[in-house]
Amino acid sequence: MKFENVKCVGIMGAGVMGGGIAQNAILCGTKVIVRDLTDEINDKAKETILNGRFGLKGGLERGKQTQEEYDKAVSLLNFTTDSEDLKDVDLLIEAIGGGDSGRLEDKPLKLKIFAEMDEIIKKEAAFASNTSTFSITDLAAATKRKEQFIGMHWFSPANIMKLVEIIHTEDSSEETFQLMVDVCEAWGKIWVKVKDIPGTDSGFIGNRVMGAARREAMAIVKDGIASPEDVNKAMINGFRWPAGPLFISGPGARSGWQ
Ligand SMILES: NC(=O)c1ccc[n+]([C@@H]2O[C@H](COP(=O)([O-])OP(=O)(O)OC[C@H]3O[C@@H](n4cnc5c(N)ncnc54)[C@H](O)[C@@H]3O)[C@@H](O)[C@H]2O)c1
Repeated sequence: MKFENVKCVGIMGAGVMGGGIAQNAILCGTKVIVRDLTDEINDKAKETILNGRFGLKGGLERGKQTQEEYDKAVSLLNFTTDSEDLKDVDLLIEAIGGGDSGRLEDKPLKLKIFAEMDEIIKKEAAFASNTSTFSITDLAAATKRKEQFIGMHWFSPANIMKLVEIIHTEDSSEETFQLMVDVCEAWGKIWVKVKDIPGTDSGFIGNRVMGAARREAMAIVKDGIASPEDVNKAMINGFRWPAGPLFISGPGARSGWQ
């Protein structure tokens, strides 16, 4: 699949990430169809995209978009509860959560969804997973389109944070990698290239580095060396981090951005 042929992007999951990715795409002129399990979930996602803390209405009020750009973006936003409605999309971005497992993400569930969507979606379409941890090679194995399968890992809030990690496997084709590069550039993202290691579920660049920093920060607090507030203060003022490594209060990457 080449970028000039991408007319519509399917997004699985209307949660924190799926909604943010959809908002980013429509603002850059790409039609999306977002699929989640119920109309209530889809309605909540639409409300966040329009009126949330980082929503489109705020952008309009602050003069970041004109009324015309706002109207165009809203016209490109579609929701469904029926996976079959995604059959003609040119690119599928998977951003589903952990389902009944209660975890943030669930590998068996992702494998099941990818196998189902592989049957439904046209053969030429590319598939991308927004997983934070699972090996992309392992997820691709659920499909018959390993050359067109890649990782596309966003950061929250997805429509604000610039970074996307593009994770390629041994099988990902050059064309699929280039598609991700072109999508990132068209959608105003900064991308980095990451090689997938099959059989490892340890995440990519950002979460591994941040995980190490958080573990060390927690050890400092646990050992009674400093308070969580002072650990954050040290990193913000000593190293110019925009925020400390320890979550203390307020909205965060996993709580949503209403
Ligand atoms: N939150 C973050 O900071 C963050 C950052 C990067 C990547 N991710 C990854 O993105 C994915 C989604 O995370 P999130 O934070 O958006 O989770 P979330 O819980 O906010 O949203 C997940 C959505 O998936 C939906 N879902 C479950 N099963 C589905 C199915 N069969 N079909 C369609 N939708 C289904 C749920 O109903 C829910 O609305 C996870 O893999 C997560 O690891 C999260």
